[in-house]
Amino acid sequence: MNARVLGEHEFGYDEDDFEQVRDRLYRRAGISLASSKQQMVYSRLARRLRELNLRSFSSYLAYLDQHPEEWQPFINALTTNITAFFREQHHFEQLASLAREPQRRGRPLRFWSAASSTGEEPYSMAMALRQALGEQAHRVQIIASDIDTGVLETARRGIYPLERIDPLDPALKKRYFQRGTGSNAGLARVVPELRQMVEFRRINLLETDWRLSGGFDAIFCRNVMIYFDKPTQVRLLERMVRLLRPDGLFFAGHSESFVQASHVVKLVCRTVYQPVPGGPT
Ligand SMILES: C[S@@+](CC[C@H](N)C(=O)[O-])C[C@H]1O[C@@H](n2cnc3c(N)ncnc32)[C@H](O)[C@@H]1O
Repeated sequence: MNARVLGEHEFGYDEDDFEQVRDRLYRRAGISLASSKQQMVYSRLARRLRELNLRSFSSYLAYLDQHPEEWQPFINALTTNITAFFREQHHFEQLASLAREPQRRGRPLRFWSAASSTGEEPYSMAMALRQALGEQAHRVQIIASDIDTGVLETARRGIYPLERIDPLDPALKKRYFQRGTGSNAGLARVVPELRQMVEFRRINLLETDWRLSGGFDAIFCRNVMIYFDKPTQVRLLERMVRLLRPDGLFFAGHSESFVQASHVVKLVCRTVYQPVPGGPT
């Protein structure tokens, strides 16, 4: 029996195509798409079909199978990258106090933003740490990673429309952003002092080797676990906690909870966790 056609569209698209997109995204990126996301999948991939001059989703799926280099545009089209500067302000206050703890004095400090999207999160970490440590911020290294190469490019450039930085404290805006002029009017660029604190890398959290050494003082892994199923979430949490120092902190998104993973982490305060002594090895 033929699969149900999903509405009137420019490109051929049926239920079977949607299921195949869903299955491929889950296997590659761990992202579990709800069955209600049929229209979202269509609109996010339609542009790619147009660029490749393809007429239907089934021919796109065949193209994907024959061209491994298509995986990256496929993933870039389907990830959700919503973010903001200082999203969940209390995390950045807690990060600043952590950086000032006496046992962290005088040594390199390492942080990871594990789903950094367009860069607002790691640059907010850099601002908070720079404010907390002053000249001592030269000891800070922030690794920021994402699976989506498009957002990583934006993040590396560090250029944002002024509306994105509007909610920031005026003193921070003045200190850490350069306003564009002429053809760059309406844009602001993160200052080099902050950009050099952050190293961007492509990391798919689902891959077995992240090529990261441990000893992180804090890991921000916010608003990405929600896309993964529970067994994947717990497996990733165990792996991340192994990369944290025993006195490090794990920051989760506002709707993510790991209280069930009590063998791995203990809740310190709202969405902030510490490793359980003798936890996963
Ligand atoms: C909603 S954004 C969260 C951004 C930021 N952490 C925040 O809370 O504002 C989710 C990010 O997770 C990334 N992502 C999704 N699946 C991923 C995976 N398997 N590995 C790494 N990053 C992934 C997406 O590309 C997207 O940029």
